[in-house]
Amino acid sequence: MTRVLHRSTKMKFDVAVSGDGLNLTLADGRTVIDAAGGAAVACLGHGNRRIAEAMGRQAAKLAYVHTMFFSCEASEALADHLVGHEPGGLSHAFFVSSGSEAVEACLKLARQYFVEKGEPQRTHYIARRQSYHGNTFGALSVSGHPARRAVYEPLLMRGVSHVSPCFAFRYKPPAETSEQYVARLAAELEAEFQRIGPDKVIGFVAEPIVGATSGCVAAEPGYFKAVREVCDRHGALLILDEIMSGMGRSGTLHVWEQEGVTPDLQAVAKGLGAGYMPLGAMLVSRKVMAALDGGSGSFAHGHTFQAHSVACAAALEVQKIIAEQKLLDNVKRLGGVLGKALAARFGTHNHVANIRGRGLFQALEFVRGRNSLEPYDPSARFSERLKLKALELGLAIYPNGGTIDGRLGDHVIIAPPYNATDADIDRIVDRLGKAVDATAAELAAG
Ligand SMILES: Cc1ncc(COP(=O)(O)O)c(C=O)c1O
Repeated sequence: MTRVLHRSTKMKFDVAVSGDGLNLTLADGRTVIDAAGGAAVACLGHGNRRIAEAMGRQAAKLAYVHTMFFSCEASEALADHLVGHEPGGLSHAFFVSSGSEAVEACLKLARQYFVEKGEPQRTHYIARRQSYHGNTFGALSVSGHPARRAVYEPLLMRGVSHVSPCFAFRYKPPAETSEQYVARLAAELEAEFQRIGPDKVIGFVAEPIVGATSGCVAAEPGYFKAVREVCDRHGALLILDEIMSGMGRSGTLHVWEQEGVTPDLQAVAKGLGAGYMPLGAMLVSRKVMAALDGGSGSFAHGHTFQAHSVACAAALEVQKIIAEQKLLDNVKRLGGVLGKALAARFGTHNHVANIRGRGLFQALEFVRGRNSLEPYDPSARFSERLKLKALELGLAIYPNGGTIDGRLGDHVIIAPPYNATDADIDRIVDRLGKAVDATAAELAAG
């Protein structure tokens, strides 16, 4: 009997005992290809000695100090590495222990920014439907994820509203051009600012590539420039959540580099520490820092474990490896290989409606039939069945339901490590193909 409160009390979870590169070994001796790094986390694979040794060295030298009294070498070095060159005007980093905490920090500092500036009437966040920003109350309040919100709905923050996602595959009619679609979404955001009162809005929160909720949905060209303009027009902040899509997963260190905008605040996590330690960060722009520094000078927020020495040392080693080995070049190149392999295997598959994503962050969206694009009934639990079938075949992937509107639709995310090879991609796509075929056949058989 387990004493761990697992994610499901009904399911029995296999125990993973070791990992090496792309492979996990389970307690019963089976091996599984970890094709999504958990939830797009393990971006350098498992069992990396160099990272483990860096963590060991830091733990032996100094594991922990409280940030009310001291800074530490590892957090200083990591912050220098990430924002020492002020990419896109981001000049400071606030380190936390999860993605949700990174989003909470963004929501809080965004609010404090306006208090410091003498605009305390700004109390409203605008976010998007079909989004996920975390499970703590603030982060869940801005999330547009009906299933994860459901139990807590009556308790969520009041000052939040949601506009449409930029999800062309499902929501752009064929007669509408991409430019018209972007203009329509920008007009919707503008109308939401007007409805709330433009001087009441703190900021707009969005994932530049939507991860778990819809499956690697990148915005249409020009979308982020258009929403940046709406925010600027009303003096509101642009808060980008790159927790899943960022830190190199889409081919550039930050997704906003591909969108021609820069955020005022940015949340990162998963790929930052590659899963060797729990670590997230809020990256803060010079503009927001100047208001804080010129005002109270003290961020009214903090955690006991923030800027943890061992977590920061692990992440610094991860980031050095990515830079030294030029792994983002491999993400771009191998992303092309993955895209082609998925297109070859699923491009005409009757149950695959769409193949999408960027770099090593790609997804398949499933349907009952590709002509009708009709999703499976949620009661069929396609994505859950696919997860289990793939595990049986020795493949761990990251599937989810509710792709289209929180209830309908199924997708799976494939997010291999940045140092994966062409042969790894072949093995992943081969097993995924078998798992998809078997799941669809099982459902067809009733
Ligand atoms: C885009 C995004 N934001 C926030 C989070 C929350 O991060 P965490 O689970 O580390 O709290 C996630 C996690 O999946 C995410 O994908």
